[in-house]
Amino acid sequence: EPRHIPVITIDGPTASGKGTLAAGVAARLGWHTLDSGSLYRVSALAARRAGVAPDDEAGLARVAAGLNLRFEGTSVFLDGADVTDVLREEAVGTMASQISVWPALRAALYELQCSFRRLPGLVADGRDMGTVIFPAAPLKIFLTASAAARAERRHRQLLERGISANLDSLRADLEARDERDRHRATAPLKPAEDALELDNSGMTVVESVELVLDWWLQRRPFD
Ligand code: DC
Repeated sequence: EPRHIPVITIDGPTASGKGTLAAGVAARLGWHTLDSGSLYRVSALAARRAGVAPDDEAGLARVAAGLNLRFEGTSVFLDGADVTDVLREEAVGTMASQISVWPALRAALYELQCSFRRLPGLVADGRDMGTVIFPAAPLKIFLTASAAARAERRHRQLLERGISANLDSLRADLEARDERDRHRATAPLKPAEDALELDNSGMTVVESVELVLDWWLQRRPFD
């Protein structure tokens, strides 16, 4: 493990604002980001296109191991085509949650996730960044927000993109997804033992970014 390359992990449930927080912290530190959920999402999309069923563990692992991906800033390209927007669709997120229960798929994505750890540092967000992928990370955040706050944020994001959605059904979907992510056998969503918990329900993005930067300055072991 390249211990000289620092990692900040941000784990938490769906729509808790992990991606926004990770991007904000990374921008301030000049670090790289890993949106690990996008790897499960792109695996789901590639599997759907290849006709591989969500319960075909070996098939899914093969798809994940053979992904032809390119990352450009915050854009993701699959087989040369920009799939960034498709990946954000609720149906793709739900399928990502369904397939992410399979250990062989998770194992197939392990090395790829580790490869994002490059100097000067990495901010990684997902469900198991602090528990499984970067267990020695010097700063681990477990981000939470109430289901109501998360459903409202997701609703607003969709409306901003011109997609109409029902608040109650969004909330039901994200609670179902969280249940599955928390209760699966392999790498369930849970705080690492040494994670700091952050409930951002009543906080702005700027406030959460500042708080995490403060925590990082207090704990960084590098000087
Ligand atoms: O963060 P997200 O909504 O893009 O993630 C989509 C799904 O992928 C999530 O419901 C569960 C799975 N996932 C995972 O199992 N482990 C991760 N580190 C990230 C995401």
